[in-house]
Amino acid sequence: MNFAESERLQKLLIKSGWENTDDINKADVVIAIGCSIRQKAENRVLSFLKSNKHLKKNGVVLGLLGCTANLYGEKILKQLPFLDIVCGPNHLASIPDILTGCTGKEIIIRTGENNNPFVQYIPSKNDVTMDVPITKGCNNFCSYCVVPLARGKLKSRKREDILREVKCAVEKGIKSVTLLGQNVNEYGKDLTDGYDFADLVREIAEIDGLLRIGFLTSHPEDTGEKILQTMAECPKVFKHLHIPLQSGSNKILKAMNRKYTVEKFLKVVEMARNMMPEISITSDIMVGFPGETEQDFRKTCEIVEKTRFNELFIFKYSPRPMTKAYGMKDDTPKEEKERRHKIILDMQRKISNEILSSFTGKTCQVLAEKISVKNPLQIIGKNIQGIPVAFQCNKNILGKIVKVKIINHREGILCGSICEEDLLLQGLQYQEKTQK
Ligand code: 5AD
Ligand code: SF4
Repeated sequence: MNFAESERLQKLLIKSGWENTDDINKADVVIAIGCSIRQKAENRVLSFLKSNKHLKKNGVVLGLLGCTANLYGEKILKQLPFLDIVCGPNHLASIPDILTGCTGKEIIIRTGENNNPFVQYIPSKNDVTMDVPITKGCNNFCSYCVVPLARGKLKSRKREDILREVKCAVEKGIKSVTLLGQNVNEYGKDLTDGYDFADLVREIAEIDGLLRIGFLTSHPEDTGEKILQTMAECPKVFKHLHIPLQSGSNKILKAMNRKYTVEKFLKVVEMARNMMPEISITSDIMVGFPGETEQDFRKTCEIVEKTRFNELFIFKYSPRPMTKAYGMKDDTPKEEKERRHKIILDMQRKISNEILSSFTGKTCQVLAEKISVKNPLQIIGKNIQGIPVAFQCNKNILGKIVKVKIINHREGILCGSICEEDLLLQGLQYQEKTQK
């Protein structure tokens, strides 16, 4: 979400006449979007700003934006008294105006709720994919999570605005959208017309010229038959579900206020796999939540082993101020959190490798999304399960769906070669490129 917002803000600033620079010493304005999900992320943004406070002497405007700004508001000035701007994620659209009015003599603080917290998308040339925030905030209050405090109450974006934005972007060349929300399944719950997330996905799928639709993140409690059916029936929708489990122990899930049981989670996974046997399922796991015993941890390991996720994001519990869990004793030592983290990581690496290896020799339909940053002779795309695929081809393939035969995999990416007869059918040309 922060990434999507910073991209939108960057484009908005460029439209307002600002220029981007990679050299901080040439900048007139330095703004950092801060994440507060874990202490480590927060430390990173605070130390970035502290290490650049000397720029202020040269008249540079310094700003802290995003979740960290909203969470602490003006209190952050005790640590960062040199800031000119403190602006939460619900007010990013006013940054161009704030910068125009910023004299450097007074501190501008914009935090809290906003009726229209969404920043409009401005397409750039050659963009194939686009992230589309559809909700802001979250009402779930999982006991460890700072998001409801940092981003505020759930706010669904108007469907007309979403559809208009996607249609307009598709006209400019966008082929794939990822709908973003802390819990996408809650889309529409704050509106009154009964229109829900599955309805939105179906309506977006009707847009001509759009080839792929993905979404993040699904909450196990709210992922039901309707959205799974929609995924199964719409060929454009990625067969991928990111559905955080957090823990394999019901005792810990209850303490986390996650509102589902392990059994319910497994049922959702089973239903998804029955409807879409090829579905890729990824998840988040947290180790070392207050009260997590070795036995609770073992239960998580069992579910990881049994479920065989395509990929897992594993986190060590980090106490966050103002959350319910902050009042609980952080009773797992750092080394023990590291040990548990490593056990699950090793277990998952093996599973992910096995799943990726099973693609070898198979052919995938891949939407060619971008040129690889690491190797400009390579194109990176995604197959229908949302798994990244790298292959060699020239850039006239970008935005097209092509057949790629998988040869192997590296660092979570499938590597393959493009099927030439498919290119000929599409009237495209493949030029062998050689590395100089
Ligand atoms: N400590 C560690 N991990 C956290 N997450 C959220 N809050 C915390 C925290 N306080 C993890 C959850 C969530 C992912 C985005 O970040 O696993 O799903
Ligand atoms: Fe945080 Fe829970 Fe909301 Fe996810 S659903 S953003 S973990 S409070």
